[in-house]
Amino acid sequence: MSDGTLGLSRRSADGSAKTAAEKAKSLDLANVERHIFLCADADKPKCCDPPVACASWLYLKRRLDELGLANGPAGGCVARSKANCLRICAEGPIAVVYPEGVWYSGMTPEALEEVIQGHLIGGTPVHRYRIPNT
Ligand code: FES
Repeated sequence: MSDGTLGLSRRSADGSAKTAAEKAKSLDLANVERHIFLCADADKPKCCDPPVACASWLYLKRRLDELGLANGPAGGCVARSKANCLRICAEGPIAVVYPEGVWYSGMTPEALEEVIQGHLIGGTPVHRYRIPNT
């Protein structure tokens, strides 16, 4: 298409009037320092039971919000994404933190708290849960 949009809508799937750029700004993505992906929405859950993954995801979201890390005026330095499958498919929930590319297993809420404090805030990977050779 001549307008450069390839015929795609500039509106969100939820029908809001925000463009991608506006949504990115509202999420403070320009200031993201780390991004954690957590396997918590698998079509074929193999790494853990779905209720375990769900509890971990809800914990991660809540703690990042409580700590002012998720987005917004308090800093907005940690992005989070719920993944369908991270291809490890064992000893989950599985997580990976970028830009370091550190992979973790056994991400229960208690383990996630250690990763939040040690890695996402402190900047040091938590070896206790780190998957070897990653
Ligand atoms: S199902 Fe969790 S990593 Fe594949």
